[in-house]
Amino acid sequence: RILDKLLFNGYEGYIVGGCVRDSIMGKIPNDWDICTSAKPEVMMNIFREFKVIPTGLKHGTLTIVINNQHFEVTTYRIDKEYVDGRHPNKVEFTNSLKEDLNRRDFTINAMAYNNKEGLIDYYDGLSDIHNKTIRCVGNAFDRFNEDYLRMLRAVRFSAQLEYRLRIETFKAIKKLSKNIIHISKERIRDEVNKILLSQKPSKGIQLLEETRLLEYIIPELQECVGFEQKKPHHDEDVFYHTMRVLDNTEKDLILRLAALLHDIAKPQCFSIDRENTGHFYRHHMKGMELAEKILKRLKYDNNTIKTVKQLIKEHMLKYEITTPRAIKRLINRVGKENIDRLFKLQIADIKGSKAPYKFDNINKAKLVCDKILNEKQPLTLKDLDIDGNDLKALGVSQGKD
Ligand code: CTP
Repeated sequence: RILDKLLFNGYEGYIVGGCVRDSIMGKIPNDWDICTSAKPEVMMNIFREFKVIPTGLKHGTLTIVINNQHFEVTTYRIDKEYVDGRHPNKVEFTNSLKEDLNRRDFTINAMAYNNKEGLIDYYDGLSDIHNKTIRCVGNAFDRFNEDYLRMLRAVRFSAQLEYRLRIETFKAIKKLSKNIIHISKERIRDEVNKILLSQKPSKGIQLLEETRLLEYIIPELQECVGFEQKKPHHDEDVFYHTMRVLDNTEKDLILRLAALLHDIAKPQCFSIDRENTGHFYRHHMKGMELAEKILKRLKYDNNTIKTVKQLIKEHMLKYEITTPRAIKRLINRVGKENIDRLFKLQIADIKGSKAPYKFDNINKAKLVCDKILNEKQPLTLKDLDIDGNDLKALGVSQGKD
């Protein structure tokens, strides 16, 4: 209806950007952006019968609400004078769709569509979709210097869509990576979340490392690269171990943050050349301290920080816990709603590991926990598959459990 109204009044109108990209890929778009040759004041008039929110009139953008759905409609514009690597200081309206598309970050995001003319694709976005490539529109250095967040967007799209970065795009990010510090932490966090929630999050995090963005976003994780762990630990390198654990988790932001940060203190607490003998308590405290520091820096909310810290803490304590009393205490510490995440983190940590870790304790603990939470039948020793000797070894005193 919006496009029809624009055309009826003699103006051009197209859907543009992410919604065109997603539609071509057969996905349902998150939102619908429209661009038009009509100026904002004209649009206010054309769309007077709808609810119109003047979201960013200075930049030519207003939001039209139809049936509770929001549509952002923006006048064709050229972004001018990017001074801070974030926002255009000045925008200039234009009558040319091509110029509007030219200011956009990647070719796959620079296509427009309407029913009358079909797909408008000046910058070969469609062939980049077919080739699964992220490529900047025009000169990569120019695009990234306009908005440094685009470097992170490139990695995020690459992770989400499982596309490769075109070599010039990759090289430009590597050269400009340190400028990511000029971008607000909230914007960085939102992109990191999208990377973490992609199908195979390790791909995106490794690409952050390869492009050198990681050392400016989470330098503590960068320190894990090449930090070797001696036996009996899982893998040789803490970073690659972390990537495996991350991929072993399901799509749950808190769980993936915990996986990402669960070994973050190792380089600071263990020696690389000796026997890796760090003091357990020190590692434990440092791990929580670093996780909090990183999450605060990236402006995560207090609840997320608290839960991730708690998961990391209990995870580091490892499971020797299978008795009902101990499990009850554990549930009290992590909270009913997070106990399942803790088991998942435990399993993710040892799944695929070469080290001789066993799932038995975790499975026992899960079983006990399930019974406690569901208040099913009383637990029996048979459930736990343990006998009196096991109980003695666990230090359980008579009668209490
Ligand atoms: N865009 C850009 N540079 C940015 C942000 C956005 O050029 N730093 C342009 C792109 O053409 C993009 C469009 O604005 O497609 C809309 O941006 P946005 O809604 O942030 O992203 P989408 O591409 O829609 O992707 P997603 O919804 O998955 O975030």
